[in-house]
Amino acid sequence: MLCQSCELHTVLHVTSKVGRASKKETSLTEVLILLCFSVSVMEVECVRQGCQLEALRNKTGSELTNRCLTVVFKGPRKTLDLLCQSEEEAQQWARGIQTLQDRVDNMTNKEKLDQYPFHADENHDDKMSYEEVQRLLCMINVDLSDQYARNLFQKCDRSADGRLDHDEIEVFCKELLRRPELDSIFLQHSANGCVLSTVDLRDFLKEQGEDFSVTHAQSLILTYELNEWAKKNQLMTPNGFTRYMLSKQNCVFDPDHARVYQDMTRPLAHYFISSSHNTYLTKDQWMGESGTDPYIRALSHGCRCVELDCWNGDAGEPVIYHGHTLTSKVPFVEVIKTINEYAFKASPYPLILSLENHCSLEQQAVMAQHLRSILGDKLLLRPLCSEESKYLPSPEDLKGKILVKGKKEESEECSSSSSDHNSSDDEPNVAEGGSKKKNGKKVVSKLSPELSELVVYTRSVPFQGFEQAAKSSPFNMSSFSETKALKLVRDSGVLFVRHNSHQLSRIYPSGQRLRSSNYNPQQMWNAGCQIVALNFQTPGEQMDLNQGRFLQNGLCGYVLKPLFMCHPDTTFNPENTGGGPGHRPVLLNIRIISAQQLPKPECDKPSSIVDPRVWVEIHGVPIDNNKKNTHYIENNGFNPRWNCTFNFTVHVPDLALVRFMVEDHDFTSSNDFLGQYTLPFTSMRSGYRHVPLFKMDGSCLSPSALFIHVKLSPCYSGPSKSMAPSPRRSPAKCQTKRP
Ligand SMILES: *[C@@H]1O[C@H](CO)[C@@H](O)[C@H](O)[C@H]1NC(C)=O
Ligand SMILES: *[C@@H]1O[C@H](CO)[C@@H](O)[C@H](O)[C@H]1NC(C)=O
Ligand SMILES: *[C@@H]1O[C@H](CO)[C@@H](O)[C@H](O)[C@H]1NC(C)=O
Ligand SMILES: *[C@@H]1O[C@H](CO)[C@@H](O)[C@H](O)[C@H]1NC(C)=O
Ligand SMILES: *[C@@H]1O[C@H](CO)[C@@H](O)[C@H](O)[C@H]1NC(C)=O
Ligand SMILES: *[C@@H]1O[C@H](CO)[C@@H](O)[C@H](O)[C@H]1NC(C)=O
Repeated sequence: MLCQSCELHTVLHVTSKVGRASKKETSLTEVLILLCFSVSVMEVECVRQGCQLEALRNKTGSELTNRCLTVVFKGPRKTLDLLCQSEEEAQQWARGIQTLQDRVDNMTNKEKLDQYPFHADENHDDKMSYEEVQRLLCMINVDLSDQYARNLFQKCDRSADGRLDHDEIEVFCKELLRRPELDSIFLQHSANGCVLSTVDLRDFLKEQGEDFSVTHAQSLILTYELNEWAKKNQLMTPNGFTRYMLSKQNCVFDPDHARVYQDMTRPLAHYFISSSHNTYLTKDQWMGESGTDPYIRALSHGCRCVELDCWNGDAGEPVIYHGHTLTSKVPFVEVIKTINEYAFKASPYPLILSLENHCSLEQQAVMAQHLRSILGDKLLLRPLCSEESKYLPSPEDLKGKILVKGKKEESEECSSSSSDHNSSDDEPNVAEGGSKKKNGKKVVSKLSPELSELVVYTRSVPFQGFEQAAKSSPFNMSSFSETKALKLVRDSGVLFVRHNSHQLSRIYPSGQRLRSSNYNPQQMWNAGCQIVALNFQTPGEQMDLNQGRFLQNGLCGYVLKPLFMCHPDTTFNPENTGGGPGHRPVLLNIRIISAQQLPKPECDKPSSIVDPRVWVEIHGVPIDNNKKNTHYIENNGFNPRWNCTFNFTVHVPDLALVRFMVEDHDFTSSNDFLGQYTLPFTSMRSGYRHVPLFKMDGSCLSPSALFIHVKLSPCYSGPSKSMAPSPRRSPAKCQTKRP
């Protein structure tokens, strides 16, 4: 097996003997192989078959991609691309690592610790010094402050010889991983104070607001209880309870929403569509490099509308890059090949190619030729029904299809229109490259008929006002700069929402954003805009919201808009404060109880001290936007406890997102981001739950998590009360001001 690390191009050879061992899944040998790569499986974010790496793809040719797999690591580490002897071997490796990963996911911290003492006890004297313990903690990514660890070590070292023997290590681990807040919930619900009976567990599940049938309680015992005796007697021990509480099944995000659960048969205009802007850029618009990798990344994250900024290239071959800037060029044909390969790996629903066409007629024809020959059957060439329909087809109708969005030549009418001049620099006239000046006036020359022919349902037209649009075909769609869109939201919110009930709108970042920063997508979703294109390559709060919005519905990139936004005569106005459709106020009572194993800030600060605090943010219609924070806890990123309660009134829950953000309080400079999690308000479960945390770049920080309690109740407040936003004060202790 040949292994190529992305950046260093180091080539490792692992003997075929070791390679063969991988056939027996999850053998110890495999763990050793992984250690050979000095890669712990806990560091692996995911494994993908196929080749991510452009350089390797070039070297191997596309016929070899099935023999490749890519290991994506958590954090800033580069990906590892592996080339196997055969496709079969690649599949075995992918399966093997996946199984190991699942097994690690299933392990409690205690079990993870049990895997290690063998390595940690380096001098094999059956005892561990403080330094050995520290190394062990490091191995399982337990980021403990030195002072805390040393105190605990001394407490457990009953023989006071500076070393822990076997029993003392066990006490140390137990003490380290103690969750008093979970113990107290266990005790509250256990009738005899020792175990939970199925009845106890059922009562607990009822309080949690989920399925509280006896069969569900029994199945949880079978899944999470390790003690055979307890299992046989249908009882749950504190250990089993902790395993359940920490499992994915007890995540704050409703697992029922993790699959495609929404109606996928409504017109496209009824969905929010995960969309990327300047997809070809890896860094920023000005200096960033173009490439095909960003397309792979966006498509792997469920993005369903990618952008291709096309310009005339050498030798008649169109290229993709950001015009007039220093970004490097990538051949159009390469991008289309990549799209062909990755289009439906993460989602079966239609993919829209948003063409920004600056090419000559000749190169437009070349583009059309490439699209047809490479995409083949995937490319949608004609309407699904012969008659002009009143509605756009549904994601279900268009499964597995690629749609080209661009200008279309209308055979009946002249395509030149003075209103074309209203289009922005991001939406240039289609034939800019071939346009001529005549009588000092720009005359739009004909669009290549070959390319025009490929545009079926997503025809770019200039926006000529809502009245005009209401009379036109649902297959026409317009693009708006963020500034233009915000103005429409504020000045004519209801009309914009109505417009978006039958036509698609694409929003793109202002051309002023040279560093590829992002605008707030929530404001656009509030008006029902579907294609809210963000710079996927720019992490931050706005991308967190995008990731949160599309977390539901199986990460398929399509999320059904609330139905009150889908009627053509809806009166929903995102700016409303006094009720109306969509307003069903809910009181969210949320207690931030504790956190576990928070990471250190990503910037390299010399000290290991973390003073964590948590923000809870509501992102929704303007009256719902709100955020509150806990006080900070000094020097404890390992198991800080806040027990801070907040109330939020959420008026339009169907549009709201909840974002949890953990930061390191800093006395001398700005606070540092530690991790976050964003989810749709309607996907949030009540009860005691864990909140996983993600890094800025979207990778998971497991086992870092928050532990919270959520209570949701409808508010029956009178009309006068629901007019005003909820008060923003909470107890002083939980609102320590930033310096
Ligand atoms: C891949 O091959 C193309 C065409 O041969 C070339 O232009 C491009 O620079 C190559 N990319 C890398 C990363 O080597
Ligand atoms: C992990 O646990 C789940 C149930 O929570 C089970 O379905 C799955 O088979 C387990 N995986 C491994 C590899 O043990
Ligand atoms: C186009 O721009 C002109 C002048 O800037 C403006 O009066 C007109 O309303 C715009 N048309 C549309 C459709 O936005
Ligand atoms: C939109 O669609 C209609 C019907 O197909 C067409 O006549 C019209 O020219 C299109 N464009 C605009 C800007 O409305
Ligand atoms: C945490 O807060 C809850 C509710 O406010 C309270 O019942 C509980 O006693 C508190 N727990 C601790 C450990 O302070
Ligand atoms: C939250 O609202 C509930 C019910 O209205 C009230 O009892 C409680 O005191 C409020 N808590 C806070 C922290 O404002």
